[in-house]
Amino acid sequence: MNTSARYIIVVLAFIISIHYIISFTHESYGRATSISNITSKLRPSSPSNSNRPDNFPAHNPGSSWTPGGSNNDTLVVDKRANATFVILARNSDLQSTVRSVREIEDRFNRRYRYPYVFLNEEPFTDEFKTRLSVLSSAKMEFGLIPHDHWFQPDSIDEAKAKASRDKMVEKNIIYGGSVSYRNMCRFNSGFFFRHPLMEKYRWYWRIEPDVHFHCDIHYDPFLFMEEKKKVYSFTITMYEYEATIPTLWKHVMDFAKLHPEFIAKDNSLGFMSSNNGDSYNLCHFWSNFEIADMEFWRGPAYTAFFEYLDQQGGFYYERWGDAPVHSIAAALFASRDQIQFFDDIGYEHNPYTHCPKNKDVWEKGRCSCDPARSFDYDGYSCMSKWDRFMETK
Ligand SMILES: *[C@@H]1O[C@H](CO)[C@@H](O)[C@H](O)[C@H]1NC(C)=O
Ligand SMILES: *[C@@H]1O[C@H](CO)[C@@H](O)[C@H](O)[C@H]1NC(C)=O
Ligand SMILES: *[C@@H]1O[C@H](CO)[C@@H](O)[C@H](O)[C@H]1NC(C)=O
Repeated sequence: MNTSARYIIVVLAFIISIHYIISFTHESYGRATSISNITSKLRPSSPSNSNRPDNFPAHNPGSSWTPGGSNNDTLVVDKRANATFVILARNSDLQSTVRSVREIEDRFNRRYRYPYVFLNEEPFTDEFKTRLSVLSSAKMEFGLIPHDHWFQPDSIDEAKAKASRDKMVEKNIIYGGSVSYRNMCRFNSGFFFRHPLMEKYRWYWRIEPDVHFHCDIHYDPFLFMEEKKKVYSFTITMYEYEATIPTLWKHVMDFAKLHPEFIAKDNSLGFMSSNNGDSYNLCHFWSNFEIADMEFWRGPAYTAFFEYLDQQGGFYYERWGDAPVHSIAAALFASRDQIQFFDDIGYEHNPYTHCPKNKDVWEKGRCSCDPARSFDYDGYSCMSKWDRFMETK
């Protein structure tokens, strides 16, 4: 054998062994750290490679690759609801939005792949979109909120609104001085379900930045809602700050008198009032978690209700939250059987956590929350009222 033939054999052997190492590591990525260590040494440190390992696939919907090996991403596709997640976030909420999505993916959606709609009153940055889209192979859409769905309408007397904000600041009422918080409450009350990206769906699951999902969810809550004919659901119920809604209940009762045709037969007024509507006990569902039917919000009762409330100006002259507005509507226009309490969805939004107390539920869900610290029977919770109300059928 002459020198050039020997040289060719050496080169060929080198190429074959590199190929072998690379294809072997591709199969076992995530399982064998020692193999990963070899590739990390082989990998040139050119900037184009940045921090993405060679065998780490780019975002690729439909890829059957399983991260980490121990995760089971097997898609459960027998049947799916016409549903989406919806997340209202600012660009500055990037990191906390990433954490929320990571958790709902791990606990539920990696096996269901429901799409996401992100909404913002400003355009999302490319960084925001990139950081979110690597988290899931589900479809993600990033939308801009139309100006009139967000900002204070011209019909509001700004001098009067400002006087009321100043008074609330004096009284130390949370978000009392904030116009953007009010914009958000009004948007969540009357507009998110009319956004063009949301119109093509019927069901939604509202998620916020910086929330936690503490338990595995072994079934599809959207299909559960659909099959059981539910319209609204919650995990936490509590009292509202009266100072933020001093006249809301009066307007609700005026509306109910104007439109008795919208009041459901077996409604949940008894959960919110012990005197048939004369006064409101301030109980409401905490709407930062919601799985609900947008046909309910888009229907004639809620459409008329929201328009009526919006005309009173209380989103700006007071500080009406979307939680009491949604809750009161669900209580009056839906029957009590259409409202679902999801005990098995462990959920935390600082400072409150709902954690399943039943040991079997907690174990099956591999919950990370402390059942002894569940908010359900805290003095500020309305859960025991709800239990009693549901028992008095
Ligand atoms: C792999 O790398 C990790 C971290 O650099 C190190 O702790 C570990 O000992 C390495 N394993 C082997 C087998 O070299
Ligand atoms: C993954 O989950 C699916 C559906 O739940 C199940 O049928 C399958 O056996 C699981 N695979 C592994 C490797 O655990
Ligand atoms: C999903 O729901 C929306 C709103 O109700 C509807 O317009 C759309 O046609 C539905 N899509 C499917 C596939 O049923």
